[in-house]
Amino acid sequence: MIEKIKETADFLKEETGFSPEAGIILGSGLGGLVNSIDIKHSFSYSDIPNFPVSTVEGHDGKLIFGNLEGKQIVAMQGRFHYYEGYNMQQVTFPVRVMKMLGITHLFLSNAAGGLNPSFDVGDLMIIKDQINMFPENPLRGKNMDELGTRFPEMSEAFDKKLVRKAKQIAKENHIKYQTGIYVGSPGPTLETPAEYRMFRILGADSTGMSTVPEVIVARHMGVVCFGISVITNLAVADDCDKGTTHDEVQNAAGEAEPKLTLIFKELIGFI
Ligand code: HPA
Repeated sequence: MIEKIKETADFLKEETGFSPEAGIILGSGLGGLVNSIDIKHSFSYSDIPNFPVSTVEGHDGKLIFGNLEGKQIVAMQGRFHYYEGYNMQQVTFPVRVMKMLGITHLFLSNAAGGLNPSFDVGDLMIIKDQINMFPENPLRGKNMDELGTRFPEMSEAFDKKLVRKAKQIAKENHIKYQTGIYVGSPGPTLETPAEYRMFRILGADSTGMSTVPEVIVARHMGVVCFGISVITNLAVADDCDKGTTHDEVQNAAGEAEPKLTLIFKELIGFI
């Protein structure tokens, strides 16, 4: 595994000459930040050695190298989801490669269902912590000592300083924001009303099918993480007679996207 990570990082280093400081993972329908990047190199996932290939609608599947706010960055437009059938090693492979390329910070976005009854569709939720409800942990198995310790500490999965700064940026730009806890579960089904209620009782404010494994692997390697959920649907009304469709998720994500881009850009300028 370590050899594969190095092989992929070496390939990308050779092709781009980049040493990015920040990695960015853009969630479903949240790829608009890419338009702000001064793009120098772009790779389809299928052209990168050892990369899995993304298949889901709304995921472009590109690894982008460029400059943003005076920093060299690497951005994933579309990510690998557990529900697509990838194993946890595949889901988190790009994060390990990005660390090998030199990133110190990882910025993640996701489309998520809102569990907190005070949330509205289109809200941004700055993630302050996470709950892993995937059936496994990406670090299960022999520890890769070269990457990190056997028992990584998770008391600050999401960096407190960046959370504070993000709130400040949102306020200064009159962007409504929430903060809360994200619970990641395998999908691909959306939750039943009973499952949404369970997640709320467990203490979560938003729920989705990504992010958690990537953050675990990033923290294992000491990478500082920051994340935002875009609330694309509300999962609070028990008696609602209509479920959520993938189209609704994509539309809500697209509308909220510019606010997310602004916060990510300013934060990247700040690090
Ligand atoms: N549940 C899980 N994943 C999601 C949701 C949801 O309600 N909305 C967007 N992604």
